Amino acid sequence: MPCILGIETSCDETSAAIVTGSVSHPTMQSLVILSQDVHRLFGGVVPEIASRQHLTGIVPTVQGALDQAGVTLGDLDAIAVTHAPGLVGALLVGTSYAKALGFGSDVPVVAVHHLEGHLFATLLEHPDASPPFTALLVSGGHTLLLDVPAWGTYQLLGQTRDDAAGEAFDKVAKLLGLPYPGGRPLELLAQTIEASTRRFVKPMVRASAVPGDDDYYDLSFSGLKTAVLLAVRAAEKDGTLDAARADIARAFQDALVGTLTEKVERAVRQFRRTRIVLGGGVACNAALQQAIRTRVERRGATVYAPSPRLATDNAAMIAAAGLFRFEAGERISPSLTAQASLSLPGLTPVRTPPSPS
Ligand code: KG4
Ligand code: ZN
Repeated sequence: MPCILGIETSCDETSAAIVTGSVSHPTMQSLVILSQDVHRLFGGVVPEIASRQHLTGIVPTVQGALDQAGVTLGDLDAIAVTHAPGLVGALLVGTSYAKALGFGSDVPVVAVHHLEGHLFATLLEHPDASPPFTALLVSGGHTLLLDVPAWGTYQLLGQTRDDAAGEAFDKVAKLLGLPYPGGRPLELLAQTIEASTRRFVKPMVRASAVPGDDDYYDLSFSGLKTAVLLAVRAAEKDGTLDAARADIARAFQDALVGTLTEKVERAVRQFRRTRIVLGGGVACNAALQQAIRTRVERRGATVYAPSPRLATDNAAMIAAAGLFRFEAGERISPSLTAQASLSLPGLTPVRTPPSPS
């Protein structure tokens, strides 16, 4: 049973975890996440500060994960580290540390793509969340709809043309005076009312779109963000912003959730997968989970979503994806370096899909 140390430093979380088991049943033995709250002061992640905090946090975080799991470096079969995509200075801390630790302790190192990690996060809590499935990855930096026939084979159905879903939450939250990161505070604000009195147009849900059209699966959130900006400005002018904040938050969330739900249902109709896996920080959103469940369960599909601790950035998901890459025989070369952007390995444009039912 392989024992993998995962290391994640792609953004503002320094994290390490131990995962054992098999690709189909990875078991989390420990997880340490050191969140960098300092970025709240700036309303967003400051890359240089993130790198420096990873530097001070990485050694105790890794030691904490080893101690919590009751293992030593000698027990490790591999070290899995996020090498892309993300903030390059932040990624460099994790990749350099993993390479040095692997070299110094004679443990092989495998490189993990951050988004593949998010796909594996749900499996740590739900053993049935394995391929084939439809996946919706909604994080601060990415928004992708995928068909996943097998681990390592990712057919891209659609992605955002501009802002990621989490980015839209964060920017709208900022407009509403909420702290960073804004997804959870915005969700809580939206929950304070039963329903919104206004409607924002759901982006990219043209009813006449058919499979093969660019906008059938693609997403876009910048227009919705602009609609919120205009609503905020109008309310400011009228002096009604305080009263309107929850209403605007709810209407924004309804529109974004409505679009994502429609796209997931289209994929379920077309590919007839019975499992839907949600991943990334926005997957914690209860309204999103509920809306997708309601729409696809009547088609006999089950929705699997990670708990908030595993939905947001963490090293357990990197270790789980690393286990898959390790078992596939992958090892890094000494020249491995961090990459700010890199497409998911195994990502292909969708092949001719079956017709919708
Ligand atoms: O996956 P993640 O931790 O980091 C990236 O890889 O980007 O996602 C962070 C994003 C942030 O934009 C945050 O506002 C959003 O996930 N988020 C949420 C919720 N919790 C976190 N968005 C909506 N509702 C939530 N409950
Ligand atoms: Zn992430």
